[in-house]
Amino acid sequence: MSRLQQDPDRIGEAALRAQIDALGPWFHNINLDGIWTAPDHFLGDYPGRKFQRFAPALPADMTGKRVLDIGCNAGFYSVEMKRRGAERVLGIDSDDRYLAQARLASKALGFTGIEFANLSVYDVGALGERFDLVIFMGVLYHLRHPLLALDLIREHVANDMLLFQSLTRGAKDVAPIKPDYDFNEPDAFAEPGYPKLHFIEREFAHDWTNWWVPNRAATEAMLRAAGFTIESGPHDEVYVCRAAPVPYGDWGPAAVYPNKGGSK
Ligand SMILES: C[S@@+](CC[C@H](N)C(=O)[O-])C[C@H]1O[C@@H](n2cnc3c(N)ncnc32)[C@H](O)[C@@H]1O
Repeated sequence: MSRLQQDPDRIGEAALRAQIDALGPWFHNINLDGIWTAPDHFLGDYPGRKFQRFAPALPADMTGKRVLDIGCNAGFYSVEMKRRGAERVLGIDSDDRYLAQARLASKALGFTGIEFANLSVYDVGALGERFDLVIFMGVLYHLRHPLLALDLIREHVANDMLLFQSLTRGAKDVAPIKPDYDFNEPDAFAEPGYPKLHFIEREFAHDWTNWWVPNRAATEAMLRAAGFTIESGPHDEVYVCRAAPVPYGDWGPAAVYPNKGGSK
């Protein structure tokens, strides 16, 4: 019996291959029914092999949980959370081509209950919904306003757990940071392990969509500053965090947002 006779809703091999090619190039190299979406990926089985290294840090059973995957790309992590039983999985991305990849991949893998929508991280407030797990992997350094994005996630959508990853460069050591520095004490900033965000004016790795690359200390400090405690990590630059009180939160919401409605 052929694969299609076994399951008539299944996409035939030739049609699947044609759809994968039509939606390429793929950043997520996913095995769809024996066909890899990016067989020449420079990282090989990516992000599958990376996920294996930190997957045990996440609950094995996500039954009843609500998951938001921000910058979902072709939906690898959305599918993995649905595979663990999550009740609701919403993947958002600002690129329609990646969303089309996510819809194809999740369908080919048999996970039809995932919603994918075009929404920027800067607009998560429009969802009006909170999630037990927010996934924010590999997006921070693509943003011109990274701390604003973390603030918006904390303020509008993060209920409990945050799965976070950022590309990092610079010192891997985290320098001990004093609660305050005197104006006449400038040397602390030259310390390699002091929190630093490296600004990219032109391109990084031939990609102009990279804007800020933190060192490890800045990654961790920004998470804390946005109101997340780090529960575990880093594994491959990945952190599992929990929503916590926002520092200086009593002084009012930190996240500001431009008026999209235009001036009157
Ligand atoms: C390096 S990929 C990471 C994909 C996936 N999260 C992962 O870790 O494998 C960055 C993704 O973020 C998306 N992205 C970039 N800017 C965004 C924004 N402002 N809002 C939502 N997604 C964004 C890109 O389209 C892309 O799919």
